[in-house]
Amino acid sequence: MTFDYRNGVLCAEQTPLDDIAQRFGTPCYVYSRAAVEAAYREFIDALAGRDARVCYSVKANSNLAILALLARLGAGFDIVSGGELARVLAAGGDASKTLFSGVGKSEAEIQFALERGIGCINVESEAELERIARIAKRLGQRAPIALRVNPDIDARTHPYISTGLRETKFGVAYADAERLYRHAAGLRELDIVGIGCHVGSLLNDPAPFVAAAQRLGELVDRLQAAGIALRHIDVGGGIGIRYKDETMQPITAFVRGALSALGNRGQQVVFDPGRSLVGNAGVLVTRIEYVKFGEARNFLVVDAAMNDLIRPPLYGAWHDVRTVRKTEAGPAPAVYDVVGPVCESADFLAKERQLSAREGDLLAIMSAGAYGMVMSSNYNSRPRAAEVLVDGTAAHLVRRRECVAELFAAEQIPVRQSRSSRD
Ligand code: LLP
Repeated sequence: MTFDYRNGVLCAEQTPLDDIAQRFGTPCYVYSRAAVEAAYREFIDALAGRDARVCYSVKANSNLAILALLARLGAGFDIVSGGELARVLAAGGDASKTLFSGVGKSEAEIQFALERGIGCINVESEAELERIARIAKRLGQRAPIALRVNPDIDARTHPYISTGLRETKFGVAYADAERLYRHAAGLRELDIVGIGCHVGSLLNDPAPFVAAAQRLGELVDRLQAAGIALRHIDVGGGIGIRYKDETMQPITAFVRGALSALGNRGQQVVFDPGRSLVGNAGVLVTRIEYVKFGEARNFLVVDAAMNDLIRPPLYGAWHDVRTVRKTEAGPAPAVYDVVGPVCESADFLAKERQLSAREGDLLAIMSAGAYGMVMSSNYNSRPRAAEVLVDGTAAHLVRRRECVAELFAAEQIPVRQSRSSRD
């Protein structure tokens, strides 16, 4: 296992987390190279013999070291902003293996993507289609596009991360897709390369994922009959991971389900997973500042907070909490809320956990590799955490901790204001 106790100390691969905390300080995100690679290989093995590509969804964890690792393994990328494309390129990723999704792409982002040779822009509205055609014309290029189709399938996941329903802002309506493809086919500046969808995140059952692939397949056949041939079918991401004790279908079940729903259609099959590649490959290591016994509840006040990991307050998400050192002679276990220093009642990382811990001890917040650091902020003027990538017994700092001066380095006090305040 990636994160296991060795001689009573929780380790990332063969590296003790207390050594990492000592070297790099806390709070600190720690990722395992082997775990990312193993998850990627699970996709590749399940796809063996099929023309397919895994485009890692950068939004889950966009650290350059993670992107470089996946690029080296041969992954493509799924991005949602010009910023993410810049990261992919900086990490040695290939623009031609990159898909650009998102409902609000700006002119500048579309131009940047086309200039860099993006593999495909996943179009999410008719207005965007027109905008891309206009920009491509100006650049004297043909823009490779796919329509992101909203399959109107209930992923039965958290409403904030459910994207495949009619009510959500994502994609073009299934019923509208054929008309839009015909329209796009008439625009010389557009090169229709594929079709895509994404039903939602954190799926623990392949059924909605497979149903969406099936619906896409049917549409692809109708387009084919209308003379519009596609080169790829992007079945999206959304494969869940185990956070607690959920029964979770393995990656293989999702991949096999989608492949069999698509049958022997000739298109390349594209998957764009985020969480399933990195979620369980990372933990957030934090130190207990205070143990506080209250009237109604007990608290472990730690040095990580909602600005470092917002999933618990935002989604009511559950992350396992483990003590980094498992000692026989520890303090008597008690039930605690694990909370941070931020001035909000919503600032909690975990609630009502039985833990044996004292001031100064280290805790690991598990399954924090996806949507952890990427969703962090500087709220309460807190510098963002360091990030470390472990490879066996080696720990590499892949993002140094921010310092306070950086937090306001881009700010300035207007001259007039500073003068009058001195008067
Ligand atoms: N493709 C598209 C078009 C997406 O919108 C997403 C995620 C993915 C792929 C990757 O989904 P994944 O395989 O990671 O589930 N912040 C939330 C998750 C938001 C997901 C948004 N879209 C969380 O912390 O649970």
